[in-house]
Amino acid sequence: MANRRNFLKTTGLLAGGLWLSPALLQARQRISPSDRIRLALVGANNMGFGILRHHLALPEVDCVAICDVDQNVLDKRLKEVEDATGKRPERYTDFRKLLEKKDLDAVIIGTPDHWHCLIAVTACAAGKDVYVEKPMANSIGECDLIAKAGSQYQRIIQVGQQQRAGQAFLESRDFVKNGHLGKIRKVNIWSNFNYGLGNEIKPATPIPTGVDYDFWLGPAPKREFNPNRFHGSWRHFWDYGGGLMSDWGVHLLDMAIWVEENPSAPSTVLTYANNVNKENRDRDTFDTMNVLFPKKDFLINYDMNGGLQTGPYNKPYGIAYVGEKGTLVVNRSGYEIYPEWDGTTKAPKCEAKKLEGTTESHNLHVANFVECIKSRNQPNCPPEAGRIAALHAHIPNIAARIGADQVIWDDEKRQFIGNSQANDLIWPEYREPWVLPKI
Ligand SMILES: NC(=O)c1ccc[n+]([C@@H]2O[C@H](COP(=O)([O-])OP(=O)(O)OC[C@H]3O[C@@H](n4cnc5c(N)ncnc54)[C@H](O)[C@@H]3O)[C@@H](O)[C@H]2O)c1
Repeated sequence: MANRRNFLKTTGLLAGGLWLSPALLQARQRISPSDRIRLALVGANNMGFGILRHHLALPEVDCVAICDVDQNVLDKRLKEVEDATGKRPERYTDFRKLLEKKDLDAVIIGTPDHWHCLIAVTACAAGKDVYVEKPMANSIGECDLIAKAGSQYQRIIQVGQQQRAGQAFLESRDFVKNGHLGKIRKVNIWSNFNYGLGNEIKPATPIPTGVDYDFWLGPAPKREFNPNRFHGSWRHFWDYGGGLMSDWGVHLLDMAIWVEENPSAPSTVLTYANNVNKENRDRDTFDTMNVLFPKKDFLINYDMNGGLQTGPYNKPYGIAYVGEKGTLVVNRSGYEIYPEWDGTTKAPKCEAKKLEGTTESHNLHVANFVECIKSRNQPNCPPEAGRIAALHAHIPNIAARIGADQVIWDDEKRQFIGNSQANDLIWPEYREPWVLPKI
């Protein structure tokens, strides 16, 4: 925690604003052009800009361009970067034009999920490294394409599953891996968030001035404009996202896969899904899901409630690694180990430990990406890890959509066994003129 505070203090990067300290601005000037990383952002409204801020806290990174299809967002973000760094990034509304730029090393993809694949694959083919937000893509097939593009074009791809850089999760992983908790029998995961219900139903409205809504929709089906299917709340509609399951499920399930001896794709997946509260709510996705993933090492048990905000251990979301000697409960704020009691020796079976006060770890995940751009080493969350985590969200969503309690995924063949309805949902249908990239 102390380290993280110091990091923010030194860089001057404080929550909410984009203000760079004089020390950082001076440090930037000392880095020669040949050692600088020229970065662009595609999709600048919320998380994409947050990730850009963390990049700008590193003295070797310059933001040379920003691209968005909403000119209101675009102009606001261009000004913020200019005010903070003294240099106005170039302005783009079409990522294809941006990616033709020769003097560009890497891109951040902060668009809604239905755009990740096309932009990531085009970026890789153009020789740019990629920080793509999670979930890696909005379908199983598109995740595969991004992973293939990364290896074919030898690009560094960091998927935005930043918990892999978080102190609480790193230490928890060590406790699991070094046997402190004994044999792990289950990993219980829960995510309960009010926003999982989606917005209240609203009427369609004219397209806001400055928004190219046809471009925003891109490969997704054409629709009239509705504010619910736009900034932020798009995540509740299958055309653009996967609801709470892919929003939080991907992050948390990644922490279970991460402690497997050999991180594996799901095979048999048992899903219960329901809509308990849909009154006046505008969404396609489910508010209630329970999913079991029996794995070789342990059972992963995922429990999700959109519209509720309390959960086990008084935490709205978390992970409990349940071992024979104790249970470790972790989320972004810290962890606690609850030892089992040994009735014979009258002693706890493992040492109780606790870590409090940790927070988000985007900054460390971003720093890892930038290090890997330079070293060409694999980052914390390489494409295969992003693909496997996304599978754990997309498969239950597919099962829920077709009403199947059980599906079996064959990862080698990249298809469901004996379920043509599920197989039909592996790939999205792209609306013309957009076409699924070929690798
Ligand atoms: N890692 C995390 O903790 C975390 C947290 C929140 C969101 N996310 C992810 O970040 C991504 C963005 O989410 P958000 O909440 O910031 O969404 P948002 O709707 O707030 O912002 C998306 C931006 O992308 C722009 N955009 C859409 N299509 C575009 C295109 N073709 N070219 C350029 N710009 C385009 C939009 O106009 C908008 O400005 C999602 O993939 C989401 O899952 C990750």
